[in-house]
Amino acid sequence: MTITVRAAAKINLHLGVGRVRDDGFHPLDTVYQAVSLYDDVAVSVADADVLSVEAPPYIDVEGVPADGTNIAMRALAEAACGERHLVQIGKQIPVAGGMAGGSADGAAALLAHDRLHDLRQPDDALLAQAARLGSDVPFSLVGGTARGRGRGEVVEPIEDHGSWWWVAVPSDVGLSTPAVYRHFDELFPDAPEQPAEPRELLAALASREPVRLARALHNDLQEPAIDLRPELGTLIERGESEGALRGLVSGSGPTCVFLCDSQEGAMAVVAGLSESYDVVLPAVGPVAGAHVLP
Ligand code: C5P
Repeated sequence: MTITVRAAAKINLHLGVGRVRDDGFHPLDTVYQAVSLYDDVAVSVADADVLSVEAPPYIDVEGVPADGTNIAMRALAEAACGERHLVQIGKQIPVAGGMAGGSADGAAALLAHDRLHDLRQPDDALLAQAARLGSDVPFSLVGGTARGRGRGEVVEPIEDHGSWWWVAVPSDVGLSTPAVYRHFDELFPDAPEQPAEPRELLAALASREPVRLARALHNDLQEPAIDLRPELGTLIERGESEGALRGLVSGSGPTCVFLCDSQEGAMAVVAGLSESYDVVLPAVGPVAGAHVLP
């Protein structure tokens, strides 16, 4: 038997980052949204632990660890059931791009393993395992739109009846999340202990007005990411000149995302950016968290 779980990419609509904690993590106040770019993770029992990764040409599969350090394999180790597994990942989410592709794989593997062995663990147990795997993994389970606090792993769903259209532009070369956080520390040694709250962003979401949401988008990691990769600033300006309401770095980057006023608006931005950028992906959010495919 094989269980396949689909998990979505995320965009941080608001990413408030506070001063680094003693454990090396940063306190966050973030609003996540799951968007329609997906990784599918298929898990079955096997004689040995084996991992395979398939991806479209725009994803460099060399950048995905093919051994036990892969987050999907770490998720199965976390579950510690004593069985060996074949894990097949079909990737669509940019790698090392700030869209939680690795976290999606970890969340998907946890859920697939639970269903494969008919464990039916309660949500709290899966969320606790997810938090041990990484800061964004619990959100990948939950999906939709949600506020994340702590190091990102304390997730509280937010009602969101909007249908928000995005365009994502990944980069050929990934950006290391720890490196971007370290550069944040260098640029902002006096960052407040409490990260910025997403007040206006929550009001904008409730209004369902894209122009208002565009104005409220916020990412404290944008400046360090652009400082490390100045071409991201150029990309954001270009997307906005092609008609996007607002462009921003996604999480720790280097993927940049553009909020558009409608599906048609997003397709026009895709057409414009495609003249200069190889990979330009439309997406809509919010979408569901990790779920079993029939
Ligand atoms: O939790 P995750 O494995 O995704 O974190 C990767 C790295 O990103 C951490 O080792 C840390 O350097 C940085 N990070 C951080 N503060 C957070 C989340 C991640 O400094 N809240």
